[in-house]
Amino acid sequence: MSRPAIQDWHLRSWREKDALQQPTYPDEAALEEALDHVSNLPPLVTSWEVENLKDELARAAQGERFLLQGGECAESFADCRADAITSRLKILMQMSLVLTYGLNTRIVRVGRFAGQYAKPRSSDTETRNGTTLPSYRGDIINSPEFSADARRPDPQRLVEAYSSSSLTLNLVRALAEGGFADLRHPEYWDLGFMEHSPLAEEYHAIVDAIEDTLGFLEVVTSQKLNSLERVTFYTSHEALLLPYEEALSRTVPHTEGIYNLGTHLPWVGKRTNQPDKAHVEYARGLQNPVGLKVGPDMTPSRLKTLVRTLDPEDEPGRLTLITRLGADTVGDRLPGLIEAVRDTGQSVLWISDPMHGNTERTNDGIKTRHFDNILGELEQAFDIHAAEGSHLGGVHFELTGENVTECVGGARGLSPDDLKHAYKSRVDPRLNYEQSLEMAFSIVRKYRQLHG
Ligand code: PEP
Ligand code: CO
Repeated sequence: MSRPAIQDWHLRSWREKDALQQPTYPDEAALEEALDHVSNLPPLVTSWEVENLKDELARAAQGERFLLQGGECAESFADCRADAITSRLKILMQMSLVLTYGLNTRIVRVGRFAGQYAKPRSSDTETRNGTTLPSYRGDIINSPEFSADARRPDPQRLVEAYSSSSLTLNLVRALAEGGFADLRHPEYWDLGFMEHSPLAEEYHAIVDAIEDTLGFLEVVTSQKLNSLERVTFYTSHEALLLPYEEALSRTVPHTEGIYNLGTHLPWVGKRTNQPDKAHVEYARGLQNPVGLKVGPDMTPSRLKTLVRTLDPEDEPGRLTLITRLGADTVGDRLPGLIEAVRDTGQSVLWISDPMHGNTERTNDGIKTRHFDNILGELEQAFDIHAAEGSHLGGVHFELTGENVTECVGGARGLSPDDLKHAYKSRVDPRLNYEQSLEMAFSIVRKYRQLHG
């Protein structure tokens, strides 16, 4: 079901408001030409997929589903390759299998991919050795090398971002369609890290139980697991670069309103979530479900305004609040935010992003996150929701299926010194394959503690 037309809103109404975090394109005519090009290209997703996701998110808000949202901090054009896309899907698939089994709930899988190309920055410029250039804002805008040429916002990149999103989605859809979900092959599971974990026995028990269950299912259905059901992956990204989002927002025949058909679940980031500014204005009128990042600077009264602005009809599945408060702050802030939403009488889906409030620098100045802080925020979020009579319906991670060394800790005990071995992220540090899988097992452990 689509939403009724939204009062005083149209696709370009965000242009009447202040738009933060936007680049300045030196060549306006080239920008208009690129936007015109993108707006004439076919949509990347369909309105019925978007509506299906909204329905799934509504169920997650009721506790009938659990949302697993994860992927890159920033996708890059260079990583639009089979191996990177496949390994990212593989880890999401494996985590979702562990969660399905452990939580005894269906998992809604949403990737941070096929469009996660724009990044908010704390400063518009970067200075190195006396030279000041525009900051790198993601591949959809400019290039990370420190030269005037590379950092100049280039409208052609809008078209390339569309193409890379479309190529990524093409492989995701093909893999999801068949074959890929055969997780019973032992070579698919790299579980060496478990031996290093104090929870090894508990983890092995879960894996054994999953294998038994899958075997049992195959016997009773006489089907291979991979042909039991087509797996669904939805896409999401931060709706940051508004002209691009506008170019992919479309009307759909026989349906009311406007859908962003560049992604299933656009979200508004922490730095652009002011109720009176352009990003909230843009998101307010879309038919899509939308996410809203909630940081430690969020006040209960601003959150109430945002909930009423983004979801005035209290539509099931419409609004997902993604809290990213930090392990030290979540205990202080989350209860008041939950109460504020309760005061509105509206229903939202609460999920936890335990990554973005826990970023720090090592003594060598490398950006990292501690596994224990990530898990710490997540466990507290589970506890606080339970204590408040609310419900944490999902998680949001920055992760990769590759064996990078960007976050410290985890069963292998990665130390700050280990970070130099395989630090590849251009923006935020991601959980690697083992840390991600360990996180999934840890969620199961916590969930079972709470729910028996
Ligand atoms: C992100 O998700 O990569 C991000 C920048 O998050 P936030 O807006 O929560 O800081
Ligand atoms: Co990030």
